[in-house]
Amino acid sequence: TAPWILDTDPGIDDALAYAYLLGCDDVELLGLSCVFGNASVERTARNALQLRQMMGQQHWVAAGAAVPMVQPPRPPADFVHGVEGLGGVDLPRPTQAPSADAVERMIAEIRSAPKAVVLAAVGPLTNLALALDRAPDIVERVASVVIMGGTLDARGNVSPWAEANIWNDPHAAQRVLQAGWPVTLVGLDITLRIQLTEHDFEVLGASAPAGVLKAAAHSYIDFYRSQGFDGCQLHDPAAVIAQRLPALFEFETVGLDVVLEGERVGQVIRAPEQPRVRVAVGGDIAGIKAEFFRGACAGLGL
Ligand code: BDR
Ligand code: CA
Repeated sequence: TAPWILDTDPGIDDALAYAYLLGCDDVELLGLSCVFGNASVERTARNALQLRQMMGQQHWVAAGAAVPMVQPPRPPADFVHGVEGLGGVDLPRPTQAPSADAVERMIAEIRSAPKAVVLAAVGPLTNLALALDRAPDIVERVASVVIMGGTLDARGNVSPWAEANIWNDPHAAQRVLQAGWPVTLVGLDITLRIQLTEHDFEVLGASAPAGVLKAAAHSYIDFYRSQGFDGCQLHDPAAVIAQRLPALFEFETVGLDVVLEGERVGQVIRAPEQPRVRVAVGGDIAGIKAEFFRGACAGLGL
């Protein structure tokens, strides 16, 4: 097994990625480091704690960055994920508070884990960039960094050019993409093509946690319908699947830069002089969907 840290802003598809990871025997989930994004960091960390409790897990949950590194914060995406970030579903009250040291925790785990850690980042990249600034030695110590974010050739989802996670903190994204560690970027080039309907989610069964995930997914699907899509897009789960099962994806290996201001802020662009990263540009859509439901069902104990 490999030790993983999930850096996340739950977020409905974040919750789906979490459920998926819990169904993977080769993943030892050390903890969830939370970041602002889909909602405030207080809210995303609270959601992460509630999800952990609902799924009967013991790993740590820590809150990290509340705002981007340089640019002013953008309004939360409550029109996508609901005011509280999880589509308005009812979760048990958290019995604990999250710790407030996500960046320190991430650094400490990367330095002390007996095996190199996999960092899966499915929110704005602020926590990772802060960790790089505080502890540059972590570049040599992580096994890989897999990111949900960006788009090379597809349209953006917050502007014609930009994807939400990169747009929420473009300076952090630039830092993380150019750090020289092994990065896989899974963005809209592939995730826009992975669409799930209510019918797809029926396979999750009828337990209480499955009910919560399905209700959240339904509200996510409603948002995508309002945008003219047939179902919700499977962003964050696709990234973690790409790390475990790269054979399901096609990649291009390129250097990248990020537009930091102006109309195209948050756009990811090719930059041949930069360290090369692996970008998912296509894949076996049916295979990725099937793998998602395999893991999510296993995570739910089915
Ligand atoms: C990304 O933005 C967030 O709203 C989702 O959770 C996902 O990480 C998709 O652009
Ligand atoms: Ca997310």
